[in-house]
Amino acid sequence: MSYPDVRPRRLRRTAALRRLVAETRVHPAELVLPLFVKEGLTEPRPIASLPGVVQHSRESLRKAAAAAAAAGIGGVMLFGVPATRDETGSGAVDPDGILNQAIRDVKAEVGDEIVVMSDLCLDEFTSHGHCGVLAPDGSVDNDATLSIYASMAVAQAEAGVDMVGPSGMMDGQVGVIRRALDAAGHAHVGILAYAAKYAGAFYGPFRDAVESTLVGDRKTYQQDPANGREALREVALDVAEGADIVMVKPALPYLDVISAVRSAVDIPVAAYQVSGEYAMVEAAAANGWLDRDRVMLETLTSIRRAGASIILTYWALDAATLLRAG
Ligand code: PBG
Repeated sequence: MSYPDVRPRRLRRTAALRRLVAETRVHPAELVLPLFVKEGLTEPRPIASLPGVVQHSRESLRKAAAAAAAAGIGGVMLFGVPATRDETGSGAVDPDGILNQAIRDVKAEVGDEIVVMSDLCLDEFTSHGHCGVLAPDGSVDNDATLSIYASMAVAQAEAGVDMVGPSGMMDGQVGVIRRALDAAGHAHVGILAYAAKYAGAFYGPFRDAVESTLVGDRKTYQQDPANGREALREVALDVAEGADIVMVKPALPYLDVISAVRSAVDIPVAAYQVSGEYAMVEAAAANGWLDRDRVMLETLTSIRRAGASIILTYWALDAATLLRAG
């Protein structure tokens, strides 16, 4: 050995040393739990491709939100599954639509204890399953969709939501929503913008969870997985239009994008560990091929290390329990 005898292993010798020098920690307060509520259910219903995740009834949703608050996680993201759908997704703007009812229920349950967020997108409400309304030629009509998003944002704000999560990837959506919220007296309601959302194949189980009717894909509005720089352009637009938090989605296959976004902005960066990321680990663990808990924490740590300070994950409660146990 030459002198000085440099040995990085000294800092790895004991658990106490490793804990002392850990660069990244995951805290329950940074985790957000996505929750599904289905109109008309009286009992929660399991989702086959998302083991451990359910479609909630309004009643069980309230209990799940209370459990999330008790676990000390950061918040919940609500998704509604309506009983009926139509061409324009009218259930999304109806104050008595399932998602708006769910927001009211959850706010009544948890108040300001955790952050209550809601998905702001039409895909669960349209008969064709697209995130926007269709033009006569069958394409997704950007600007006609924006005015519906504006009404949807106001309906969610009136139901009491803390932050809306526009996830439809329409150009200009953040600005239109910000102006609509402000004009309706909801300047305090925040926007968590799905800024860089990729048209990949990791959303499969989610589409089961919301009983998606989509035929085809979302490649004319969500991003091409090949493009990293384009994400920075999307993020810059959302920041300029008034986003309070920007999100990258999915998470694990896009750690480079998370890292680049973190360097580019000074507002909080979130990442969505999506249904397919969860399902593939759960499936491997069910076969005894992976250690579920360790892989769970490793993926969350990696997403944090890449630069996301907020993580949406179906494991939020399980991870909070593991993290508390140390
Ligand atoms: C759109 C939306 C989707 C997800 C969150 N919001 C589906 C999509 O873009 O097709 C996917 C989340 C997941 O896979 O866990 N409302």
